[in-house]
Amino acid sequence: MPRTSIDGIAPGPAAAIDAEQYYAGLDSFNVEPLWRNTDPRLLPAEPKSRAVPHVWRYQEVRAQLMTAGRLISAEEAERRVLMLINPGLAPEVETANNLYAGIQLVLPGEIAPMHKHAAAAFRFVIEGSGAYTAVDGERAHMRPGDIVLTPSWAWHDHGNFSDEPMVWMDGLDLPLIKKLEANFFVNGPERAQDELRPANSTERLYATSRLNPAWQTWDKPYSPVINYPWSQTEQLLKTALDDWSGSPTDGVIFEFTNPNSGGPIMPTMGAYIQALPARMHTQAHQHTSSAIYHVVRGRGRTVVDGTVLDWSEHDTFTVPGWSVHEHINTENEPAILFSHTDIPVLKALGFYWERACPRQA
Ligand SMILES: [Fe+2]
Ligand SMILES: [Fe+2]
Repeated sequence: MPRTSIDGIAPGPAAAIDAEQYYAGLDSFNVEPLWRNTDPRLLPAEPKSRAVPHVWRYQEVRAQLMTAGRLISAEEAERRVLMLINPGLAPEVETANNLYAGIQLVLPGEIAPMHKHAAAAFRFVIEGSGAYTAVDGERAHMRPGDIVLTPSWAWHDHGNFSDEPMVWMDGLDLPLIKKLEANFFVNGPERAQDELRPANSTERLYATSRLNPAWQTWDKPYSPVINYPWSQTEQLLKTALDDWSGSPTDGVIFEFTNPNSGGPIMPTMGAYIQALPARMHTQAHQHTSSAIYHVVRGRGRTVVDGTVLDWSEHDTFTVPGWSVHEHINTENEPAILFSHTDIPVLKALGFYWERACPRQA
């Protein structure tokens, strides 16, 4: 039976076609031959992130930030952020594949005017007390170790009315929302929002995960809690460490949750706090989610695909997706790590996988 193609033309001998001319000509049709594809990310045997494991040393970043404090005017202060750029993803503004982190300095008297955006954000407070973030009419006072949410489309403004500089880490889903081409930004009608409720009222209302206010209706996809205060987090870690050894891969680890769903704080980002008991060397594992860790307390190292990341207090480091990693607390005190991840995204789409691996160190 003669071979025919769909347009009825029988394939001729290969020699009759000038292959080089054919491939060179394809560009003008904006097509590429899949059979000559050399991008290993297209159909890999397993994922390999372009992001690389990396540590940003707090003392180095802080010194640069303080110089920026002298350089940048109060009007530009809301953008006084040193963005943590992953060396494998530069020049993209990406700290991990779907996640961003930056370190921000807010000097006494400075405010960031009211605005909102589709990208979701939170702040993890590193230094200073007395600044506030107002979210949808409620001010949350910020203290070191607090996590303050400014979710997708929530109006927010912040100000530092204390007499000391505030430094916090911003965590956002910017790389993801940039790829989705779904970000919007709106400036508010006022510089600061009117206060609709007493300051810190949701923090007090949702003070325990066992008791939710039954009269509250909430139909938003993120947590109604604005501030997860360090005082509560620290107390929980302390008591849990007395009773439990936690997960073999992560020690005593808690997820910050939306009290209404028990799920992640936001649809695009999960946030965790973990204590690695003294001298713990965790088992190794890998998962499709990426993580950005912030060292709250302690010293240790994380081995990521054979690269050793030494870390100490307030350093930030990243663990790319599907990299094999294990944590080592090198000290005789618990080490405490805060992390944010893209787990909710991968789980929602059915792409979250995890497996145990042999240790590397
Ligand atoms: Fe914002
Ligand atoms: Fe992990």
